[in-house]
This record gives sequence, C-alpha cells and structure tokens, in this order.
Amino acid sequence: MGYPTLFRPLVVISSLAPLCMAAYPEVVNDSRCDCYLTNGSSENYFTTHKFFDFRNKVDQAKVPDIIGDADESSQADPTSDYLSSDEWSDYWGLQSWNNSGSLNTDVTDATVLMVHSPNNVYLEKNQDENANSKTYLTMRTARLDDFQTSCEFESIIQNYQYLSVRMYARTVGAPGAVTAMFTYRMPDDADDVAEVQESDLEIRTLDPPDSVQYTNQPSYTSMGLDVQDATRNVTIPEGRDWTNWAVYRMDWSPGKTTWYIDGGEVASISFQAPRDPSMLIFNSWSDGGSWTGNMSVGSEASLQIQWIELVYNTTGTPDKQTGNHRHMAAIHEREESDKREEGSCYNVCSIDQREETGTTTLLQGSAPRTIVSWVVVLCLALFAW
Ligand SMILES: *[C@@H]1O[C@H](CO)[C@@H](O)[C@H](O)[C@H]1NC(C)=O
Ligand SMILES: *[C@@H]1O[C@H](CO)[C@@H](O)[C@H](O)[C@H]1NC(C)=O
Ligand SMILES: *[C@@H]1O[C@H](CO)[C@@H](O)[C@H](O)[C@H]1NC(C)=O
Ligand SMILES: *[C@@H]1O[C@H](CO)[C@@H](O)[C@H](O)[C@H]1NC(C)=O
Ligand SMILES: *[C@@H]1O[C@H](CO)[C@@H](O)[C@H](O)[C@H]1NC(C)=O
Ligand SMILES: *[C@@H]1O[C@H](CO)[C@@H](O)[C@H](O)[C@H]1NC(C)=O
Repeated sequence: MGYPTLFRPLVVISSLAPLCMAAYPEVVNDSRCDCYLTNGSSENYFTTHKFFDFRNKVDQAKVPDIIGDADESSQADPTSDYLSSDEWSDYWGLQSWNNSGSLNTDVTDATVLMVHSPNNVYLEKNQDENANSKTYLTMRTARLDDFQTSCEFESIIQNYQYLSVRMYARTVGAPGAVTAMFTYRMPDDADDVAEVQESDLEIRTLDPPDSVQYTNQPSYTSMGLDVQDATRNVTIPEGRDWTNWAVYRMDWSPGKTTWYIDGGEVASISFQAPRDPSMLIFNSWSDGGSWTGNMSVGSEASLQIQWIELVYNTTGTPDKQTGNHRHMAAIHEREESDKREEGSCYNVCSIDQREETGTTTLLQGSAPRTIVSWVVVLCLALFAW
C-alpha cells in the first residue's frame, strides 16, 4: 500500500494529501474475516477475534464493599448483571479458590491466607480528570486482618494454541500486590513446577512504577534457584509507568512469547515458551510471600481494565472441559472448522491497522469493495488532475 508516496510536494494538492494519507483500511464486521493478521516481530495469522469492552457500562457501575468474612467472600455473587450474563460467563470464569492447601507447605513461601472472591471484580465509574472512558472493570485485592481478599478470572477456553491478547489497563494502589495477565497450562502433576507452561505479564506494586516483569514459567526450580533466562525485568519506555493507561499486548507464538506496550515491543523470550494448549488468566493478588511481598492491613491495590481484545486459534481437541464449558468449546471448534473448511484465508483482517478501538479492518480480499481502493482511486485521480 505505497500510494501515499505517489504524492510529490506539490502546493496544489498538498492540502489534500493529509486526507489521502489518513486512510485506514475499511472497517468490517468480523463475519467478513477469514483470518486476522497481527503486526510486529511476532506477526501471525489467527482464526478468531473477541473484544470485551468495559468502557460504557454506567448503569452497572458500583464499587462493592469489601466482604470481611473469608467464606462469605469466596461464595459471593457476581457484582453486576453484566458479570452474571452469558456474554461474560461464556468466556470467563470468576474464581473463588483459596491457597489454604499450599500455605505452610514447601510448595510456596506464602504467609497469608489468600481468598479469591467474585466480589472483587466489578465495573467502576471512571473518575479521572479528562476520563477517556465512562467506566472500567476493576480487579481488587485488599489486606484484611485475617486474610488477603483477591480475585481472578480464567478463560472458559482451555485450548488456546497461540494467541495475541491485549488489555488497555493500569495498576493502582499499595505495595504488596501482583496484577497479571498470563497464559497457563496446568501441569499433569500439580506439584511438579518443572511441568508448568505459562507466559506472564506481571506488575508488582512493590516495584518502582516503571518496572514490569515478563516471564516464561517456571522461573525457579524445585531447588528454589532462579532461572534467569526465563524472565525479563523491563523498564516501561518513554518515562511512563504502570499507573498510566496503556495497551499491554502479549503474543504467544510457536517458539516464543513477545510483549508490547502501546504498540512497541519491549521483550521477547524463546526460552521455555509454552508449547501445549493453554488457558488465559487475569488476576490481582497477594499472599505475603517473597514474590508479592506483604500488603499492610487496611490497604488495597487494583488492576483496572477498559477493554480486553484477543485474536487466537484453538486446537481441535479440547481437553479438561466440563459442563457448559464443553458446550462453548464445541461452538468454538465449529467456528474454527467452518473457517478452515473454506480453505485458505481469503479475507485477511486486522485489529492493528485501524482508527477506532475494537473495530476490525479488512487488509486484503474483496479488494474492489474496500474503502482503501476507493481512496487510492480518488487520490490517483486528484494526482492526475
Ligand atoms: C455482523 O454480522 C452478523 C451476521 O450477519 C450480525 O449478526 C451481526 O449483528 C453483525 N455485527 C455487527 C457489529 O454489525
Ligand atoms: C501495529 O500497527 C499499529 C497501527 O499502525 C501501530 O501503532 C503499532 O505500533 C504497530 N505495532 C508493531 C509492533 O508494529
Ligand atoms: C492459526 O490457524 C490458521 C489456520 O489453521 C493457520 O494458518 C495459522 O498459522 C495459525 N496461527 C498460528 C500462530 O499457529
Ligand atoms: C478454602 O478452600 C478449601 C478447599 O477447597 C475449602 O474447604 C475452604 O472452605 C476454603 N476457605 C475459604 C475461606 O474459602
Ligand atoms: C526490576 O528492576 C527494578 C529497577 O532496577 C527493581 O527495583 C525491581 O526490584 C526489579 N524487580 C524484580 C522483580 O526483579
Ligand atoms: C510477611 O509477613 C509475615 C508475617 O508478619 C512474615 O513472616 C514474612 O516474612 C513477611 N514476608 C515478606 C516477604 O516480607
């Protein structure tokens, strides 16, 4: 698409040039797309696109009081109609497990009971000055006298095999928490750390606000040694920090995982790149161990997310599926095989080359119908004239 270079600095048309240069590919409905091509050094084709938008849910926004009782918090209901709806729960499962099983064992160095609660995931009004959304999704963790209340949601799809996921998010609050977005494959033997497959974006609130940590787990061995090749401590570029809104992107590709912030690559790790079908998880937590540190009683921290977007493939053989999860997996499988049956990818779409968040554009295919072509024709006509 080299058409902008056709322009010479001619005075007559220079005022028209910005119009032509600003052209983006045509915005299309996902049903027009056979596949999605991502950009950057980890560019790849994917079959499916999903966008979860938390920016405009004013009627659902309400900060729930923290529940002080551990059992009650674990059993709490979702905090809004949206988080109870199929639109949400067909894709994400709010967690309510706790770490009592591993406390005081040599599996972790946790010192505090941590209880995941659906009550800590909620829609909240954006009260920023010059707010760039009406609302966002908050994932809260807070330290109470007897335990750390925390939260996690996991993808219902457990057989992603390669994906590019992005969240527009920030982390705020007290030291002693970790907020994270990661792929995860449960080892067959839950206690065998060497078998974990996991690519992480983690923000430690005890770290300086410009540090983020990227890891292909395990980053420690059963001997407790750090595995240096597995992890990168990255300074966020351009003087920004994790308290600012930014697009955090993680691409899990064959043989490597690559991380971006606001479109710029910041890390890539081949070592221990996950190989097998995995799920996707978001959480906000602390357990008083050496990784999160201790949060002071009465303090809290949050991961706040305006939107989550992903393009992905799944494998044809979903495993570890249960109940309606199986139903969803079947739908996803059908979506994918429908696309594969159509043969090669004719309409190639993008979630990178676009003007407006959440839209999909058509990079190639059905060429004469794209706005790009019309703009090219228009620009060429103007140029000739
Ligand atoms: C996309 O197309 C499908 C099928 O034609 C339709 O059901 C859906 O409403 C469309 N979505 C948008 C955002 O236009
Ligand atoms: C991907 O494309 C977008 C839109 O042109 C750009 O802002 C972003 O920097 C690109 N990212 C990479 C990694 O090339
Ligand atoms: C995703 O699936 C499509 C269709 O099978 C394939 O062409 C593409 O290479 C896959 N992407 C990755 C990253 O494996
Ligand atoms: C923690 O999990 C255990 C095992 O699932 C369960 O028996 C216990 O009731 C849970 N405790 C809390 C506070 O949720
Ligand atoms: C990352 O680097 C920063 C700056 O050097 C340091 O303060 C921080 O503790 C490091 N974080 C980790 C997890 O190593
Ligand atoms: C957290 O607090 C507990 C209890 O006060 C203490 O035993 C532990 O060493 C602390 N952990 C860290 C990482 O500071």
